[in-house]
Amino acid sequence: MNAHDFPTSETELAARLPDLLSRSYARYSNFTVAAAVIDETGAAHVGVNVENAAYPSGTCAEQTAIGAMVTAGGRKIARVYIAAGSDGVVQPCGACRQRIAEFATEDCEVVSVQGGKATRRTPFWPLLPDSFGPRDLG
Ligand code: THU
Repeated sequence: MNAHDFPTSETELAARLPDLLSRSYARYSNFTVAAAVIDETGAAHVGVNVENAAYPSGTCAEQTAIGAMVTAGGRKIARVYIAAGSDGVVQPCGACRQRIAEFATEDCEVVSVQGGKATRRTPFWPLLPDSFGPRDLG
């Protein structure tokens, strides 16, 4: 699965993202997460959480997706889609908010996917107010 065979229309993407939950490696928490980031060209880059026996070495789905985006040449995140194996809305953890901030556009949104549908849209920047970012380093 890569950016070329993942749909970019929101309806289709939301319908397909939960399929990726079966590829999550959530051996320790059993909390499966799949994420997609949409880059400046409209391409979708996907990832799942990848846990590790050394617990802090595990990675979040958003982190995996951002790595895929950067590897494919994407440099801006317009939207982040998150699907989880649980029923509730899952928002990015603090560390992932920082990772998203590195690439987020001014109007970046986080979109929750539940039951194969986009259910909630949250503007990204209020999730990380007064953030430290690339601009601080000049
Ligand atoms: N997790 C994500 O992948 N993304 C989130 O937004 C929240 C948490 C993962 C990390 C860990 O593998 C599991 O969910 C439980 O925290």
